[in-house]
Amino acid sequence: MNPDKSKTSQRKKEHLELCLTDDVSFKRKSTGFENYEFKHYAITEVDIAKIDFTGEFVGKKIKYPFLISCMTGGTTEAENINAQLALVAEELKIPIGVGSQRQALENNEFVNSFKIVRKNAPSVPILGNIGAAQVTQFNSIDPINKLLEMIMGDALVIHVNPLQELLQKEGEINFSGFLDKVITLVNNLKVPVIVKEVGSGISEEAAEKLLEAGVKGIDVSGAGGTSWAGVEILRNKDDQNNYLWDWGLPTSYCIKEVFKLKKNYKFTLIGSGGIKNGLDAAKAFALGVDIVASARQVLQILHKYGVEKTADYIQSIFHEISEIMYLTGSQNLNDLRMNKLIRKELFY
Ligand SMILES: Cc1cc2nc3c(=O)[nH]c(=O)nc-3n(C[C@H](O)[C@H](O)[C@H](O)COP(=O)(O)O)c2cc1C
Repeated sequence: MNPDKSKTSQRKKEHLELCLTDDVSFKRKSTGFENYEFKHYAITEVDIAKIDFTGEFVGKKIKYPFLISCMTGGTTEAENINAQLALVAEELKIPIGVGSQRQALENNEFVNSFKIVRKNAPSVPILGNIGAAQVTQFNSIDPINKLLEMIMGDALVIHVNPLQELLQKEGEINFSGFLDKVITLVNNLKVPVIVKEVGSGISEEAAEKLLEAGVKGIDVSGAGGTSWAGVEILRNKDDQNNYLWDWGLPTSYCIKEVFKLKKNYKFTLIGSGGIKNGLDAAKAFALGVDIVASARQVLQILHKYGVEKTADYIQSIFHEISEIMYLTGSQNLNDLRMNKLIRKELFY
């Protein structure tokens, strides 16, 4: 194999290993969810048994508004992980994203590591994934269509990751012309385009530009969960005190800011970055997201406990959300978005 091409696979392998073993969380920054409390509603009339989370995402029915975030593909280990994550998605009827398909553009060796997702999850929404750096370099949409066909993808996710590229020795930091390429994709692909960060967050200003370009979904992927600067700093064996480890906009802030754009644009707001339990997820919904997403926590649970326990874990998140809905008088997720949170400092 061409050494440059095998480098992509090697990098993916190192990312997976670091996300399973080392502490790659933010060090001095959090999601900000801890600054909020739910308003307890003493006269609730909510019937927990009637709470229904089913909905639609990229044109398909889903049972829970929970997305298994784009993570992996392009290595032997990735095929095994994707096979299992897809089983979880199919069992729960939830959407799943594949990791960057860049490697599959370079050669055919690990194409099955992506295809396995559609094989094991025939009925759920599956999201293709490619980086902004690659999008910027394309002269035609054919390669993107090829990536989507590979997984019979229901949407294309473009990840914007300037911080990660900045810290990667082999990183590509020229994104000039990116928005024009996004417009071309939006206008020519048969499926919607979603843009996500990878843990540094998307601001209102950035989201508005993307929505003007015609993007149909924004996944804020904010700070407070996995630090991709941290992952690259560990890969490079650089100084762990590098200020960039904690760079980024906290998840709760991004959700609040990007949600404001719902007034003028129709889009799906996805909340991710450090969402680990039902309480975090419920706060994300209360701040305005349509769907929550999680990456590293799901990967670690899968690695430790397997498919069934991972499915149980995701269901437990919705069990907790149901409890919170009952205690806040919210019969559905729309009710939960109606002024149910209070900033903690206002209690005292
Ligand atoms: C092992 C691993 C690999 C990832 N690879 C990708 C990727 O290829 N493309 C992408 O868009 N995001 C990727 N991400 C980023 C996640 O989708 C997510 O945006 C980020 O990790 C923050 O979410 P978290 O705090 O729940 O982990 C990856 C995350 C993990 C843990």
